Amino acid sequence: MSQFSEKLVSWYRERGRDLPWRNTADPYRIWVSEIILQQTRVAQGYGYYLRFVERFPDVESLVSAEEDEVMKYWQGLGYYSRARNLHAAAKDIAARGSFPVGFDEVKSLKGVGDYTAAAVCSFAYGMPCAVVDGNVCRVLSRYLGVDVPTDTSEGKKVFAALAGEMLDRERPAEYNQAIMDFGALQCVPSSPDCLSCPLADGCAAFRKGLVGELPRKKRKAKVTERFFNYMYVCAGAHTFLRKREAGDIWRNLYEFPLIETPGEASWEELSALAEFREMFRGQALGSVRPAGGEVRHVLSHRVIRARCYEITLSDEGAQMPGFRRVAVCDLDKFPVSRLISRFFSIVLKPEF
Ligand code: ADE
Repeated sequence: MSQFSEKLVSWYRERGRDLPWRNTADPYRIWVSEIILQQTRVAQGYGYYLRFVERFPDVESLVSAEEDEVMKYWQGLGYYSRARNLHAAAKDIAARGSFPVGFDEVKSLKGVGDYTAAAVCSFAYGMPCAVVDGNVCRVLSRYLGVDVPTDTSEGKKVFAALAGEMLDRERPAEYNQAIMDFGALQCVPSSPDCLSCPLADGCAAFRKGLVGELPRKKRKAKVTERFFNYMYVCAGAHTFLRKREAGDIWRNLYEFPLIETPGEASWEELSALAEFREMFRGQALGSVRPAGGEVRHVLSHRVIRARCYEITLSDEGAQMPGFRRVAVCDLDKFPVSRLISRFFSIVLKPEF
């Protein structure tokens, strides 16, 4: 056992977090937790995990649920393809007869890549598979003084190989949890407290004064803007929703009628668009008012600048072709993005 592993694991035993998915060897629960934690911080994922496994405690209960219900349990977490893949993979597992064992078999599940397969195999089966995520790369890059950018294909290979070399093969599960927690709590991205770090005396970055420089990244994520104009249409006590089908974001989540514009659009510009006139063809529009101001919704590579208008139709029994007419009091039954749930709370406020 290396000094690195010994110090890391003893740090973990003292300082590591007691998390619900660490007290089980059930591959299903470990898989669910790792899918939730793929793009979500522990503090946010914690409650989602508990609610999810309470409602869907095993593969069978997940398989027999409707997708809308699964999405509802994911609501607010973002990256909704994770939930759709989880549901599809559960059906796959049920068809195979049992949870797959072995790195390649686990990796063949939809939504599972190298990281998640290594996590499931080490945590559930004690297999010697090293996890490699952002935390692990940061710890290894600093400790070993490796300045290959982590977001390049070379970097991915280099850090996967280093992670495999550093893995403690006698206790891969504990080692993997330890290095992830160490990255999350001690060897944090900015201003880590190196003076209290038990690994500082062997850390190349600390010795050379490069902690702030490592790990290196090649690219800065380019952020682009999109402009969404939503319509909360009031037809008596009913409104209209549509399930989002486009393959870009929020597929299978519900939303108000939407017109996306290439830039900011005023109400006058929006209501003059052919798409708008088509959407409300044959309807007599009553009052129109903005539902609050612009809401900025930040995704990983996008900012969505969204507005919502409340439009009252004169005909309370109106239908809108292509949209689902729903009672306003039932809105909370539909799985929606966090952006739409913000608009729900704005338009449902009594004083609005
Ligand atoms: N992030 C991803 N997987 C994790 C785990 N098992 N424990 C804590 N943080 C994590």
